[in-house]
Amino acid sequence: MRKKILVTGGLGYIGSHTCIALINQGYQPIIIDNLSNTHRSVLYRLESLVNEDIPYYQVDILDQEKLYHILEEHKIDAVIHFAAFKAVGESVQHPLKYYENNIGGLISLLKVLHSQKVSKIVFSSSCTVYGEPEKLPVEESEPFKDATSPYGSTKQMSEEILRDTDLNCVALRYFNPIGAHPSGKIGEMPIGVPGNLIPYITQTAIGKRKQLKVNGNDYPTPDGTNIRDYIDVMDLADAHVAALELLFQKDIKFEAINIGTGVGVSVLEVIQTFEKVNNLQLNYTIGPRRAGDIIQVYANANKAKELLNWTAKRTLSESLSTAWKWEQYAASLDD
Ligand code: WQD
Repeated sequence: MRKKILVTGGLGYIGSHTCIALINQGYQPIIIDNLSNTHRSVLYRLESLVNEDIPYYQVDILDQEKLYHILEEHKIDAVIHFAAFKAVGESVQHPLKYYENNIGGLISLLKVLHSQKVSKIVFSSSCTVYGEPEKLPVEESEPFKDATSPYGSTKQMSEEILRDTDLNCVALRYFNPIGAHPSGKIGEMPIGVPGNLIPYITQTAIGKRKQLKVNGNDYPTPDGTNIRDYIDVMDLADAHVAALELLFQKDIKFEAINIGTGVGVSVLEVIQTFEKVNNLQLNYTIGPRRAGDIIQVYANANKAKELLNWTAKRTLSESLSTAWKWEQYAASLDD
């Protein structure tokens, strides 16, 4: 009998890729997603990639009643919680929307898990909890800085809430997720103008956007542009399965684990790699700094290696190749 894993936000970018990794590892995902930041068509493409139907419910995690009935129907063994708003800029404009959804939604989910005696949870956290770290590469023991956005605050608060419950929790602190499934049939599908770098690059390359603006090149870094740790979404999906295995094998109270490559890459290096691997010229210009950007952050990934036996396998070139393959496929969809 396959262990059942509730995947909240399972039709989103990271959630959908994780569902594939779960099925490949012999788990049964049960997806809930309110479609606020994705499309139902992702489910159909997911099912064709794994050749099986996946139980899916269009439910908001704030709807405790519906959540309760789903867990009545499916005796789940663990949950992977992705469902949250994640646009940094939007969170500054609409803080209450972020606190209600990200914190209210977490509390709603935890109450239902408690009533259904589900104790194992993998939580989608973020390197944003570190702010501008003192030391690089950043370790999990680095104390939280004041969050630079309400989005970042919700991730810090969520970790504190999870620490204070009696759940068994692994919080995965993602660095910058990029890339797509090698089939190119699922990927990052931001609604509206992308905030993140890679979708803006691929949409510029395909002509959906006129020109990429690099947010400043006067930072104290080798080429003046910000440095980030870009982690392939397939590696990130594998990390969620590894975190689940850890929860089933050991009595974990609360562990926060960095999920990154451990290598810092600048914006200009990303652009140059994208052009090289996809053999094209990108139309970009240098613009002003973006408020709230940190100068550089990249992971110390030793704890993931020790606790999860996980390391990043895909290269930046592979991620930028699959990201482009997905953008070309997405252009053919009428989502
Ligand atoms: C990366 C770099 C930009 C767009 C955010 C969240 C983080 C995580 C990932 C959820 C920066 C530059 C970008 C553009 C640019 N999200 N850039 N032109 O801000 O590092 O992280 O997304 O978990 O929590 O904070 O990602 O992709 O927005 O920016 O020059 O059009 O690319 O200034 O230096 P970021 P990003």
